[in-house]
Amino acid sequence: MKKITISADLVVYENNAELPDDVQKLMQEAIDAREKSYSPYSQFKVGAAILLENGEVVTGSNQENASYPAGLCAERTAIFYAGAKYPNTRILKMALTARSEKQEVAVPTPPCGSCRQAIAEYEVKQDQPIEIFFMGEKGKVVKAQSVSDLLPLIFDSTYL
Ligand code: THU
Repeated sequence: MKKITISADLVVYENNAELPDDVQKLMQEAIDAREKSYSPYSQFKVGAAILLENGEVVTGSNQENASYPAGLCAERTAIFYAGAKYPNTRILKMALTARSEKQEVAVPTPPCGSCRQAIAEYEVKQDQPIEIFFMGEKGKVVKAQSVSDLLPLIFDSTYL
């Protein structure tokens, strides 16, 4: 028997202003998308902006439903749209932000497990990592170089 250690290096920026210019712009697109969230049940608004290698930006927000599980997170709304509209274009970066109507969200809000799995599918498909930047509504921004830093041991088609 042996032990395996899994670790990840994440970068933490003190605030939005510390981000590289292109990522600041992308985060602003995520903030704009966040405000279009349809979240009457949780009152938790999430925005995602995706930069593609052709320079296009695709955005999405969480879309809730009275039948709760029928709703979809911002990250998957955005990445499925990117996959549908630009099936052969690589995804370079994602910016994510969350805000609540109930309390201040000052901690960086990472993508949920299902969204990590969905993002992982596109990383495998394009054979190139996707940078992920995530924040709350203010404060620190965390950068992962790849979704595998957030979701080690991803399940992919090689297991099928
Ligand atoms: N949500 C997202 O949009 N992304 C995540 O990664 C976590 C959760 C949404 C789903 C639901 O509409 C609300 O936030 C509360 O869970």
